[in-house]
Amino acid sequence: MTKGSPFAVLIATAVTLSCSAPQPTPPDADVEARIDALLGQMTLEEKVGQMNQYSSFHDLTGPAPEEERARARLDDLKAGRVGSMLNVLGAEATRAAQKEAVEGSRLGIPLIFGYDVIHGYRTIFPVPLGEAASWDLEAIEASARVAATEAAAAGVHWTFAPMVDICRDARWGRIMEGAGEDPFLGARIAAARVRGFQGASLSDLDSIAACAKHYAAYGLAEGGRDYNTVDISEQTLRNVVLPPFHAAEEAGVATFMNSFNEIGGVPSTASVHLQREILKGEWGFEGFVVSDWGSIGELVAHGVAADLTQAAQLAVEAGSDMDMEAQAYVSHLVELVESGRVEEARVDDAVRRILRIKFALGLFDDPYRYSDSEREKALLLTEEHLAAARDVARKSIVLLKNEGGILPLEKGGTIAVIGPFAADKNAALGSWRGQAIPDSAVSLVEGIQAAVGSDATVLHAEGVPLIAGTQDFGAAPTFVEDDRSGFPAALDAARRADVVVLALGEGAFQSGEARSQADIGLKGLQDELLREVLAVNENVVVVLTAGRPLVITHVAGSAPAILNAWLLGSEAGHAIADVLFGDYNPSGKLPASFPRSVGQIPVYYAHKNTGRPATPGNVFSSRYIDMPNEPLYPFGYGLSYTTFEYSAPRLSAAEMTPGGSVEVTATVKNTGERVGTEVVQLYVRDLVGSVTRPVKELKGFRRVTLEPGESKDVSFTLEAPDLAFFTAEGKWEAEPGDFVAFVGPNSRDTQEAPFTLK
Ligand code: BGC
Repeated sequence: MTKGSPFAVLIATAVTLSCSAPQPTPPDADVEARIDALLGQMTLEEKVGQMNQYSSFHDLTGPAPEEERARARLDDLKAGRVGSMLNVLGAEATRAAQKEAVEGSRLGIPLIFGYDVIHGYRTIFPVPLGEAASWDLEAIEASARVAATEAAAAGVHWTFAPMVDICRDARWGRIMEGAGEDPFLGARIAAARVRGFQGASLSDLDSIAACAKHYAAYGLAEGGRDYNTVDISEQTLRNVVLPPFHAAEEAGVATFMNSFNEIGGVPSTASVHLQREILKGEWGFEGFVVSDWGSIGELVAHGVAADLTQAAQLAVEAGSDMDMEAQAYVSHLVELVESGRVEEARVDDAVRRILRIKFALGLFDDPYRYSDSEREKALLLTEEHLAAARDVARKSIVLLKNEGGILPLEKGGTIAVIGPFAADKNAALGSWRGQAIPDSAVSLVEGIQAAVGSDATVLHAEGVPLIAGTQDFGAAPTFVEDDRSGFPAALDAARRADVVVLALGEGAFQSGEARSQADIGLKGLQDELLREVLAVNENVVVVLTAGRPLVITHVAGSAPAILNAWLLGSEAGHAIADVLFGDYNPSGKLPASFPRSVGQIPVYYAHKNTGRPATPGNVFSSRYIDMPNEPLYPFGYGLSYTTFEYSAPRLSAAEMTPGGSVEVTATVKNTGERVGTEVVQLYVRDLVGSVTRPVKELKGFRRVTLEPGESKDVSFTLEAPDLAFFTAEGKWEAEPGDFVAFVGPNSRDTQEAPFTLK
């Protein structure tokens, strides 16, 4: 599978946040009339063409079979048999391909160009899981805005983002692409990203169409293995998986992408329930659904279709409107309609949806409007874009441990920066790095050096090399490492230093698509390096680089300080240095639990109580006998260089009427000596339901900045709809009864107050 495309030129513009709601895609009467007129002119073959999406084939210089395939596809383009292309990048290339479609085909319907703009186009932001740790919706929206501005300037109309899959299994490599384990946080972030990509209106030149993916439940694959089976209840689907998708839909997302997995025996691509009943039925979605790469063809491997013809039939019936790279529609849909096996109305509906988005993007007014080399030259990788990337990167860092207040560091003395990720400029760019310039991230050594200038001596040693293959998209690493040749230099630097910053973790492509790992501890000799460094200098700050929560129980038990720095993008080294030296007081909170052991997975805070809740000392309760049930670091957890004290929550009333509300207020005080930002979190438990309910569910959060000694009352308003869930009767509603509200700095350390819904 080819995802890469030629590197394009870069561009950028001012970072502006749109306050107005993004434009959904309401059926506009004029547009619908134009679509009717167009549909009336189109042959069946041309209609099916709109439903066909190819990956880039403008480069005809490949080996013979490739060349032949590319030529055939070019012919399809000229014949109106292609509605969209992905991976065509740059003003010039998109203009050339668009010309073939617009000037070469009978009706001249413009192409829509899609691309995976996941965490930046040329300016790279933290991976989405990292950004989620900021809990800063404005910063996340700004990040998507920059990505859209750059991508749009390079001819891209449509991003395959945001990925909104809930994931409770850090073995799954694609956990890095989402917002973590929680549906409430996930829904807020999904909407923020849609707003960021789509801006005030899809017709604006710096807006691109967004795509909520992967619909649905792709993140709950058995064993955390990519592309694997999912078997979940309707309750879990509705209460856990769908909320972020629904939030994206309500924020006006233009498109959805379905997923590779099955749910309970039905592959999502062929799921009438997901696509026709819920998405287009219950939610009234007016945009279109694109399949995932080849997922229509994969219906054959799933064993629900005997051949590609039947696969096409199942997918179109289910509501998959556009076929990404399976060529099932372009090859078989005409014959399926002509033989009466598929109604032409199905095809018309899909084409109408696709044309709607093309109209909304202004492509019928000017098909070349995004393909402007001047804009492309002017708008990529600007100072402002880098500043936005640094802002969200430092907000994404989570301080996991700070024993004895070793952090923040002084900008003085001797600092040894050791480890495979100390001078590396690649890992922080992560997977799905758009058109990042290779090795362009600011390294940790560079960031620290820039922060301390000549005030401190900075030593550097790698200690252990990066594990071969973990930084390469196409490689399969073997994880056999026995090269200790770097140990002496590393230990020498550690001995000479006042403090060691030890950069450990995972390579750029150890997370992402097809990067599931059964073992998510530190690989290779990294643990050994930590032990040996600690033996010669106990002032060690571990900086973790990774796209997933790692199992770091032994690190937590030995190193005095740990910063979780994810894969932070272009400005990584500067952002980490900002936090190391206290120029930014860390405020990030975990969007996913850090397990103590892989054996605890799935481990998440919003679990059910069970009939035998874990009781210390009671063997016959739901617990492990060899370790606690609780993760090492819970959802919502993260420290600051200051301390915050919480009062117990106070309620405006002990009872809520169905149309009324209850205000939950806690007083939060900065009891330390530095100004700091705290993410105050509200959770709720529904004590008795028609189906069992989680022990806690996030219902609100607020970022609050407090001066030393300052207190603030932080209030949340709860209304009955906030307590709603998918009940035993299959309705989304709140059930009367007793509830508990919890407020605290994370999902574990909360104080509570009861209330009743009448
Ligand atoms: C991924 C999608 C992606 C698509 C196009 C697939 O393999 O699952 O997330 O958008 O490729 O690159």
